[in-house]
Amino acid sequence: MAILLDDTKRIFTLQTDHSMYQMKADRYGVLLHTWFGNNGTSFDYSYLITYEDRGFSGNPYETENERTYSLDALPQEYPVYGSGDYRSTALKVRYPDGSNACELRYYSYQILNGKYSLPGLPAIYATEDTKADTLIITLEDTRHCFYVHIYYGVLENLDIITRAVCIENHCSDDLYFENIQSTCVDYLHGNFNFHTFYGRHVKERTHQKSPLQHGIQSIGSTRGTSSHQYNPFFILSEQDTTEDTGNCYGFSLLYSGDFSGLAEYDQYDQTRILLGIHPDNFYYCIKPGEKFYAPETAMAFSDCGLGNLSHIYHKAYRNNLCRGKYKTARRPILLNSWEGVYFDFDGDKLVQMAKDASELGVELFVMDDGWFGKRDLDVSGLGDWLVNEEKLGCTLGELSERIHKLGLQFGIWFEPECVNEDSNLYRAHPDWALQVPGKAPCRSRYQLVLDFSREDVRDYIFTHICQVLDSAKIEYLKWDFNRSISDIYSAKLPAKRQGEVAHRYILGLYDMLEKLIQRYPDILIEGCSGGGGRFDAGMLYYTPQIWCSDDTDAIERLSIQYGTSFGYPVSTMGSHVSKCPNEQTGRMTPLNTRATVAMSGTFGYELDVNQMSDEEKALVKAQIKEFKSYDSLIQNGNYYRLTDPSEAQSYHSWEFVAEDKSEALLCIVSLQIHPNGPGNYIKLKGLDPHSAYLIDGKKYPGDVLMNGGLLLPFAKAEYESFRIHITRC
Ligand code: DGJ
Repeated sequence: MAILLDDTKRIFTLQTDHSMYQMKADRYGVLLHTWFGNNGTSFDYSYLITYEDRGFSGNPYETENERTYSLDALPQEYPVYGSGDYRSTALKVRYPDGSNACELRYYSYQILNGKYSLPGLPAIYATEDTKADTLIITLEDTRHCFYVHIYYGVLENLDIITRAVCIENHCSDDLYFENIQSTCVDYLHGNFNFHTFYGRHVKERTHQKSPLQHGIQSIGSTRGTSSHQYNPFFILSEQDTTEDTGNCYGFSLLYSGDFSGLAEYDQYDQTRILLGIHPDNFYYCIKPGEKFYAPETAMAFSDCGLGNLSHIYHKAYRNNLCRGKYKTARRPILLNSWEGVYFDFDGDKLVQMAKDASELGVELFVMDDGWFGKRDLDVSGLGDWLVNEEKLGCTLGELSERIHKLGLQFGIWFEPECVNEDSNLYRAHPDWALQVPGKAPCRSRYQLVLDFSREDVRDYIFTHICQVLDSAKIEYLKWDFNRSISDIYSAKLPAKRQGEVAHRYILGLYDMLEKLIQRYPDILIEGCSGGGGRFDAGMLYYTPQIWCSDDTDAIERLSIQYGTSFGYPVSTMGSHVSKCPNEQTGRMTPLNTRATVAMSGTFGYELDVNQMSDEEKALVKAQIKEFKSYDSLIQNGNYYRLTDPSEAQSYHSWEFVAEDKSEALLCIVSLQIHPNGPGNYIKLKGLDPHSAYLIDGKKYPGDVLMNGGLLLPFAKAEYESFRIHITRC
């Protein structure tokens, strides 16, 4: 059992193979956080807590004259607003009398076999070979209005501890919550770096590391999506932590909407982290007897650096978060029509593209935006999910049949959550779009957002999507979403409950995705939000791959995929070879390099094969053949970051190593050429030191490759790349 209990001292210790987490309900019933870090002796870690008389840090009433006991200084599991703790807190409630000062005290606990799930929300699940247990600790508010049930999932051999929160109203009045965070962890000491992943459209998840200083450092989104700008994943690391050494802690939110993540370095040099739904657009009414579930966070600890921390998340998300047929099956190598022809196509043109692609070994043809309603540009048609047979020159069934006859699978694009004002749907139901009465809505890409908090709206869209999917043989669906949400107001909810819309929207999105995967379990769904605007662990529960970025430039992709790799496995990163000059940057890169980068993701193409020379086509054919020879190594192997592209001068490099260490793939992209420059050496990682490996017919001991390194081939031109396959002899 991974949950150890000291009933008399009310100490709860959660143990995974390599980490430990501990809390203790103290003599006043305050649930203290006492440890998160190395797995070791199950000791009472509360001995580390300082009790001092602190000026201007008050004392709870029941402590009487004990001036050394202050919630303002104590490490807590779920600190609340108005308790005398003036740091950032996890919960803020508005009581029926208008007050908001709250106190929680320990009430009970429950231990369950297996991993809990959450109604309507994504959650990590246990498989047959996962050892998992659940602890639920219940706190009660001292005014006896509600319970806070804190859920802990201990996934022993995954080295993951999850947390989620359920609030239960057990009084006879409505309660309004202004903030419900999913996770709080307090560190008594430590000098931490805060690693976050920031960006913008076409530049997502750039890794940034900054030391914590007194005050609050925060990331978040109020865009209704997890966003391009910040990702709901962050890391705390100790100052000397590297890729391979040192302590670090990961916090990942399984949620796709507004979020807030922060680290507060306080007056006593303690650090508090909080992660959960962003409070700005949140004001939630919980009625008597009702429960509210806040989304799950997945926490991990590594004492051997950032690389290992990433491996923990990669394995857990690949095997215990992604679901369905494509969790393990190799994803088909696809050709997407978007950058090849944009809106400018008819059925014959698409079939020709598919034919050209099939001759090169492509397995799936995806018809992107433009096949429905009045949609020759992005100004109209969204919401009208009726096949434009006039544009295609045939029915969807006929088009799919022609593509299947070429030996290809067929996929299709949707943007279910949005509507153009120039659409039949909007003309019939303007109130189905999120907009505030009396105020003109904020448009983005000429579109508005449908109110997915409403079941009737979702049912309508779902029915129309199903009609399309049922009318043809379709094996893949791209679920896109091309704007940030604004004007959050639902015509269906009363004024006092408008603060629920943003969260209800995400629950609606999850509800519809769940229905879709239940009805079409064999369809591969790729998530997308103008590229990686909703690349998060919540979406991965429904869509096992997500289009990583609308930036397909191979060099730009180096830092995007590098940043993404800290929290997410390569198997989830949608990545394509596109044409040159690149559509986003105008840069020229060799076709080989574009493939090196796209292969380090789900691998596909996004160009018009018809425009390629015979030489290029031959290269593509060879790339596809090569990819198929080590696809499982890429999809399931351990991914090692060997260089940081923001620091790399001459080249950037990364490596995949099979779980059993029998083979590896080393990828190198040259960035700058220095004539007559020094040799470049790279030390491999993750090999078996006691085995010999073959590289280009030459034998090297594993330890030599990891200690002495490998002399890299001399690049002859900028952006040249190399893929070096290494096999154990
Ligand atoms: C944004 C996506 O990221 C692109 O790949 C493409 O599908 C367009 N939308 C289509 O409108």
